[in-house]
Amino acid sequence: MKILELLLIMMLSLWANDGKVLFTKHCASCHTPFIPMLKLKENFLDHNNSLLKLKAPTLNQLSYRLKQRIGDPKGDEELHRMEVSAFMSDYVYNPDKDKSVCLEEVLSQFKTMPSLKGKVSEEELESIGEYLYDFEKEVVKAKGVKFEGFKAALQRAKKENKLIMIESMTSTCHFCRKMEREVMIEPQVVEAIEKDFIPVAIDVNKHSLPLGLKVEATPSFIFIDTHKNIIMNIPGAWAKNDFLELLKEAKSHSKDRK
Ligand code: HEC
Repeated sequence: MKILELLLIMMLSLWANDGKVLFTKHCASCHTPFIPMLKLKENFLDHNNSLLKLKAPTLNQLSYRLKQRIGDPKGDEELHRMEVSAFMSDYVYNPDKDKSVCLEEVLSQFKTMPSLKGKVSEEELESIGEYLYDFEKEVVKAKGVKFEGFKAALQRAKKENKLIMIESMTSTCHFCRKMEREVMIEPQVVEAIEKDFIPVAIDVNKHSLPLGLKVEATPSFIFIDTHKNIIMNIPGAWAKNDFLELLKEAKSHSKDRK
């Protein structure tokens, strides 16, 4: 019985230190966790926040923007994590819009955040910092297109009679990230890809493309049928509707070949 009680207390204290729980308790009354990027752009760039009437930048905005603007995003991840978390903790105690790193079009909609000194501890902020650092990446992984390896994709494409869509990318390519976080996370796009394609992502800095394929730029989107015919090889980052058109075109080209 004692052991069970102890376990319960341990679990509760772990739960209480969880970054997500703490963020919900201390921050989410103003910072909505997730709104898709395209909706946010529309809200802040075209409607001066009158569409969503947000009280503060969302967590996916904070997570992305802080990671881009604080420290060296391409350097050591542990160091970067500490730098981002330290900026955030300092901001929560000593907010000052001159220090803010969100886009001017976003910040101009808000008054300076009130200080939370005495309301949230440094320890709690450490956990919130971990949660904030990983949030954007985790959301893209959870809601975005799920990629698989080329070999597995080829097998599944044959079985399900679908096309393979290879995104040739690199981990440092800005427009690849933009496609992934803005377009390939939109439910309509995720659905269109799941319906007719097997998506594969290949980091061309680390691996060569299959079938001797070459690309001129990243990202490039290459569509391949189950006979390994190349249907289309298109470079560039695309707006949502143009990308949906591109998917349609790839599908209809593949029909022409049958
Ligand atoms: C009462 C509402 C409110 C609460 C609660 C709140 N914030 Fe904020 N926060 C804002 C507003 C508004 C802004 C945008 C203006 C600014 O930068 O000061 C902001 C901005 C920020 C920024 C700076 C963004 C940038 O552009 O650099 C960080 C970091 C931040 N908040 C973190 C937090 C964290 C972490 C918590 C919870 C511990 C929290 N906030 C709780 C309203 C709030």
